[in-house]
Amino acid sequence: MKNFTDKVAVISGGANGIGLDIGKCLAAEKCHVVIADIDQAACGAAASAISALGHGVEVVGMACDVTDKDQITALADKAWAHFGHVDILFNNAGVGAGLKPGDKTEDDDLRWVFEVNFFGNWNMCMEFLRRFKAQGSEAHICNTASENSIGWPMPLMSGYNASKAAVLGYTGMLRMELPEHIAISLLCPGWTRTDIGNSGTKRQDKFGGPKPARPHYPQEGDHMPYEVETVGAHTLAEIKNGSFYIFPHYASRHLAEERNDEIIAAFDAQTSPSEDWQKNDTRSFYEALQAQRERQK
Ligand SMILES: NC(=O)c1ccc[n+]([C@@H]2O[C@H](COP(=O)([O-])OP(=O)(O)OC[C@H]3O[C@@H](n4cnc5c(N)ncnc54)[C@H](O)[C@@H]3O)[C@@H](O)[C@H]2O)c1
Repeated sequence: MKNFTDKVAVISGGANGIGLDIGKCLAAEKCHVVIADIDQAACGAAASAISALGHGVEVVGMACDVTDKDQITALADKAWAHFGHVDILFNNAGVGAGLKPGDKTEDDDLRWVFEVNFFGNWNMCMEFLRRFKAQGSEAHICNTASENSIGWPMPLMSGYNASKAAVLGYTGMLRMELPEHIAISLLCPGWTRTDIGNSGTKRQDKFGGPKPARPHYPQEGDHMPYEVETVGAHTLAEIKNGSFYIFPHYASRHLAEERNDEIIAAFDAQTSPSEDWQKNDTRSFYEALQAQRERQK
């Protein structure tokens, strides 16, 4: 997608943090915006704040809990009814359950994190994908993953890491399945100053109810998150560039490099190519299968 003018974007988890920054940047590029968030009051406040920037686009808040498939369908119905079309999904809602070793992680937290970060992300993606296919015009899906999807799996966040690895896994698969008029990208922010540390205050009753607020990220010192304004404009620029991986932050790079280097070193130490190794390559098998299916159409 080369420009956002007069397009309509839906942003899940758009009332705060990274989603809100993306919303502001979209409005500056003359894109209409639907802020979809579990926090109904914050949805309206975010929509008003973006409208107040005066870019002359329509910004509406629509409450939606992405862990509820009926609410996802209702959101899509409302967005299409309001604007007549939707062109971009920023599939961004996500939560963190705080820092705990894996063996001390509570079932409620693990289920909550997966229901929002993976199943919520998947269900939003598939609902909008079906509609983008039916609509037939150029469309884009941007799934928010994390530096933890591609790099060092941060200790004490095992459920979060696993949920973000799952988003990487299915987004990479979808990339190869999509029709030409729909593109997909994977946004992998590094450590960013947002309200994610306080996600627990909004934990739904079905996952054990709200948890106490936690201290905010440091304002100064040797270890600081990136500011949230580093994400939105970068993400829009990389969508225009046609990038699949969107990395706003350099500090994530060495984590990805170390993991990839270790993986390749393990292959090189443990395996060697046979003359006909391509026979066992699952990607060529898939490509041959697809070619056969195309011929049979
Ligand atoms: N902040 C970081 O360091 C960081 C790093 C990498 C990835 N991310 C990812 O970026 C995305 C945005 O997070 P953020 O850091 O801006 O956090 P944030 O808490 O500031 O914003 C997340 C928004 O999601 C909403 N939300 C939570 N549960 C929801 C649900 N069930 N349905 C709909 N909305 C829901 C919240 O109300 C909030 O407005 C998340 O997917 C997060 O995992 C964040």
